[in-house]
Order: sequence, then structure tokens, then C-alpha cells
Amino acid sequence: MPSVTGVSGRRVVVGVSGGIAAYKSAELVRRLRQAGAEVRVVMTPSATEFITPLTLQALSGNPVHTHLLDPAAEAAMGHIELARWADAVLVAPASANYIARISHGLADDLLTTLCLATQAPLFVAPAMNRVMWAHPATQQNCSVLQQRGVQLLGPAEGEQACGETGAGRMLEPEALLASLGVYWLHGVLAGCRVLVTAGPTRESIDPVRYITNHSSGKMGYAVAEAAAAAGAEVVLVSGPTELACPEGVTRIAVETAANMAEAVQAQVERCNIFISAAAVADYRPLSVEAKKIKKHSPELSLQLERTEDILAIVASQHDRFTVGFAAETDNLEQYARDKLARKGLDMIAANLVGAGLGFNADDNALTVLWQGGKQYIERADKKTVARQLITLIAERYHAQGTS
Ligand code: CTP
Repeated sequence: MPSVTGVSGRRVVVGVSGGIAAYKSAELVRRLRQAGAEVRVVMTPSATEFITPLTLQALSGNPVHTHLLDPAAEAAMGHIELARWADAVLVAPASANYIARISHGLADDLLTTLCLATQAPLFVAPAMNRVMWAHPATQQNCSVLQQRGVQLLGPAEGEQACGETGAGRMLEPEALLASLGVYWLHGVLAGCRVLVTAGPTRESIDPVRYITNHSSGKMGYAVAEAAAAAGAEVVLVSGPTELACPEGVTRIAVETAANMAEAVQAQVERCNIFISAAAVADYRPLSVEAKKIKKHSPELSLQLERTEDILAIVASQHDRFTVGFAAETDNLEQYARDKLARKGLDMIAANLVGAGLGFNADDNALTVLWQGGKQYIERADKKTVARQLITLIAERYHAQGTS
């Protein structure tokens, strides 16, 4: 059964080779578990000099495998079973020595043997001194691995444990997790056309003033990017934001709720999925003053009228898989369920606003609801959350067989 959150439900073997970055493997294992993966750790003997198997056992919730010829471990889960068990093998940190051994097909310890014996995708996160990384031997070994379809993740540039600065740092656990998420996202929306709205709208009061809200557009843009990564053809109808258009996405820039409604109506017919992440203004000034309003009187009243509810219109007029967002300060699930039913949606992604989450923030957490179902997406950066949401949308969309 494919996972609903990319990494969730997947079986990941984390291989740890000897290097100071092995301390980050603890965090990696913790995060993988938190994201719902099942994790088994394989360590090289030199990795155990940097971090204890006990730590990784506690974090993974499984015994750590360290020796190829350990009768007790082989009796529980032998290296061939482990190789078959894995949906992915992620070696992090991957030392220069490990990379050299695996590129030559050596199988002189449990980790390299497992890497030869598995048919699961192999991800390698190099971590070493910058000179070792730049060495032609290491570079050549890495090209050999890439030619064989091994995915190299990193290394990153920056300050190193040896005091030098350059390329060779292991990618952070969050980036490694995100790479696995992208891998499993690939193709889940192939052949689909997805329409996304994002950002705020701007409703003019007079030629120099307007009403808007705090939406940055980050969530909608991340959703558009994740949909494109999932293989969809994506059109993004965006209110005014500072963000760059994600690669592979077609952006239509709009300003007002009325412009957005018009652009959506023009696009929705040719789409399969509509995701309404925009913070559309609910009201606009009844009339826009032709000239700048002068401050003659101590009080000023603006008369407002309702804007068109783009999402509700699409849901009622078009047979598309329709996903709404609900930003709430309280009673999250109840209000969101109400919107799901009232607007006739297939799915709603609800988030609490405030405390570093939601509007204009970098992180988000979502409670995703649909008729008879619910899934919580843990707090993470918006790109990670978006990938999980797209995986879930793809799953529900394919399950419903909506055209
Ligand atoms: N939406 C829309 N057009 C509008 C208003 C909202 O398409 N004119 C969409 C948003 O993109 C979002 C969802 O509707 O997907 C939010 O629902 P809504 O009921 O408008 O939420 P709130 O604005 O928070 O409304 P309320 O004040 O009722 O909570």
C-alpha cells in the first residue's frame, strides 16, 4: 500500500559508516520514525566508534545490525532478509572509504554486502573532509555510483569538523528526509492537470490603497511545486507575492478576487484537480473611489460587499477533485468539517494560525479531512508538508477515480 505521506509506512535501512557526521544519523533516524517510516540501522564497525549502537537502537526501535557474521542477528533478520525488507537504503554518512568499497562492488562487511544484495533504491549522503571529497578517486567513484543509478545526496558546503571550509559536509537530516519524500512522490500525479490558487488578493479602496491579508503564498507555491514534482502539469493562479514561480509551473498573476475567479474559471475545465490555497478576500469595497480619499472627516466608513467564493463555485459547477484550505484560530476540525460539507469539497486541509505556523510562516502542520477520513501532517517546513499533502491528494484522487 503506497504511503500517504511519502515516507510514512516505508521501510528504510539507514546505513551508518565511520565519520564524525554519524552523530547526525541519530537525528535522521528520529525524524524518519517521526515521519512514519520503519527504520532499521546497519553500522560499519568504525561507525560504532563515533556513535553507539544503543543510541540508534533506542531511536529506531529495532536492534542495530553491525556484523555480517553475527549468528544472533542473522537468526533474527539476516542480511538477505534485510536487503529484501528495505524499500530504500540510505547511507548517511557515507565515508570516502565506504564510497570506494561500494563503487568497486566489495562486500567485506554487513553494510556493503547489504548494498550489493538489495534491489531497493540506494541513497548515499557523502560526508568527509573537502580535500578527500575533491580527490579524483572519490569523484570517479561517485560518478560510477551515479551511472549505476545510485542517488547521491549532497554533500553540502560549509564549515567542517576538521576546521576547514568547503564541500564535504553531510546534508542535514531534514534535507535527506525531503529527498526521500521527493523520490516517493515522483509520478504519483503523472498525466494529471492541477490548478492551484495561492497568495492573498488585493481589493482596491482608491487609486493608492487596498485591503489585503498576511498571506505570503508560501504554502500554495509549495503545493504547486510538489504537484509538479509528482509529475502533474500545474497552473498556478497567484495573487501578489514576492515568490519566484516554481520550476515547471505556469503562473498566472492576478490581483483581485474577481481576477482570480475569472482566471480559475478559464483554467478549471481542463484540470483534474483544483487546490484552493489562496487567502481570497471575503469582502471588497462596494465601489472603488476614482480619486485618492482625503482625510477631511474624523471618521471614515467603508462599505464592503462579499466577493465570489471561488472554491464553492468550482465545487458546485465542475466535477473536479476539489481541495480547500481552512485557516482557523480555534475549533479547527469542527470548522473545517463544516466547510468541507458546506462547500461540497473532496478534501480540506486545515491549519491553525499563530505560534510560528500558517500565515507568512515557514512551517505548517495540517489536519486533512475528507468524507469518512482524516490524516494529520506533522509540523515541518511548508515544502515538506506540501509534498505530504500532494501524496495524500493523489491517493484520494486515484481512489475516487474522479476524472
Ligand atoms: N476561498 C475562495 N474564495 C473566497 C474565499 C475563500 O476560494 N472568496 C477558499 C480559500 O482559498 C480556502 C477556503 O475557501 O480554500 C477557505 O474557506 P472560507 O470559508 O472562505 O474560510 P475563511 O475565509 O476562513 O472563512 P470563515 O470566515 O467562514 O472561517
